Amino acid sequence: MTSTRIESTAGRPHGAAAGPAAEPGLSATVSGSLAAALRRSAEIERRIGEEPRSFRILTGDRPTGELHLGHYFGTLLNRVRLQDAGAQLFVLVADYQALTDRDRAEALGENVLGLVLDYLATGIDPARATIFAHSAVPELNQLLLPFLSLVSTSELGRNPTVKDEIAHSRQRSPGGATPRTPRGMSDGKASVSNMRSVNGLMFTYPVHQAADILFCKGNLVPVGQDQLPHLEVTRLVARRFNERYPGAGGPVFPLPDALLSAAPLLLGTDGGKMSKSRGNAIALRATADETARLIRGAKTDAQRRISYDPAGRPEVSSLVLLAALCLDRDPVSVADQIGDGGAAALKRTVTEAVNERLAPFRTRRAELAADPGYARQVLREGCAQARAVATATLQEVRDAMGMRY
Ligand code: TRP
Repeated sequence: MTSTRIESTAGRPHGAAAGPAAEPGLSATVSGSLAAALRRSAEIERRIGEEPRSFRILTGDRPTGELHLGHYFGTLLNRVRLQDAGAQLFVLVADYQALTDRDRAEALGENVLGLVLDYLATGIDPARATIFAHSAVPELNQLLLPFLSLVSTSELGRNPTVKDEIAHSRQRSPGGATPRTPRGMSDGKASVSNMRSVNGLMFTYPVHQAADILFCKGNLVPVGQDQLPHLEVTRLVARRFNERYPGAGGPVFPLPDALLSAAPLLLGTDGGKMSKSRGNAIALRATADETARLIRGAKTDAQRRISYDPAGRPEVSSLVLLAALCLDRDPVSVADQIGDGGAAALKRTVTEAVNERLAPFRTRRAELAADPGYARQVLREGCAQARAVATATLQEVRDAMGMRY
């Protein structure tokens, strides 16, 4: 991925000179790198078909709640597809990262095992893929220290995804005071009071994410657009590490590529971004009745004729899209079929489509959940595998840095 640099490289650590030959800084624009990432993703898709084993894929989720339909169509199905194509898949339960925007990760253990069940029920196969958690792999976490030395504080502060998350943070200040500006600010900008109250982990988690990806020398990261700035951090860390500490056997780290998901974005039932923490999501593990209730309460508009017009009618179009994804059909034809049926007919169609599509997932998940020891064992074995990989990488890092005592 070649990213376009449009900002200056001021703020780069260690006073590296800016100039035409200088490495691209973190300020590579998201839009510039988006176009490049899209081109590159198409090329990578071709290569996956030809040489799947050359791809080591790292992806993951924070255990902050239930996975929902946005995850399913946005990433989960894609992970299974890549696994089935023969790529090596690492799936991270990012339990430390869950603490970036909240004081305490509630029900952490339950959420972690819930994620593992969601993965298994979607078709991630522990015989071929590695499912693991941050907190069980100390050698991965240790990479954070040398990696943090490679980025400047101003680079950390510029990350647009982090800024957006700070705006939605539900953290109290470390001293205990509630932020003066409530979360959910609509302009998506970090307020001064929120900036003061977020914890250090929020600022550094993109670098932690570099450790997540690089500990296993992942070279491909399936992401949504909002994660592109983080992947830029990872590439920057890898590039700077390789330059500063050339390993005896060549560069220690690969420069991973983003694989952008082709799936269009699903909105939540309130018309905003579908999100575990915003209470507007349809959980994969919801019952058929809960699903019906959530869809009945979804925001629509007063126009009777149903159409697929994402720009003009975002809420209605997102429901049409959801039905279309579940039915493997084209959204325009789904909308035409509902025609003048209005919101009620649209919601009926969507509810049926979702419940039918998820029925096998839900049955499988219930079977797996009946034996809680199983998910735990899958996770333990995955953590042990990840740990062996992380230990070898940390050794290489120490060797490259001359930390051999
Ligand atoms: N940030 C991701 C999320 O919020 C989770 C995650 C953690 C991740 N580490 C990662 C994703 C590394 C891709 C690669 O869902």
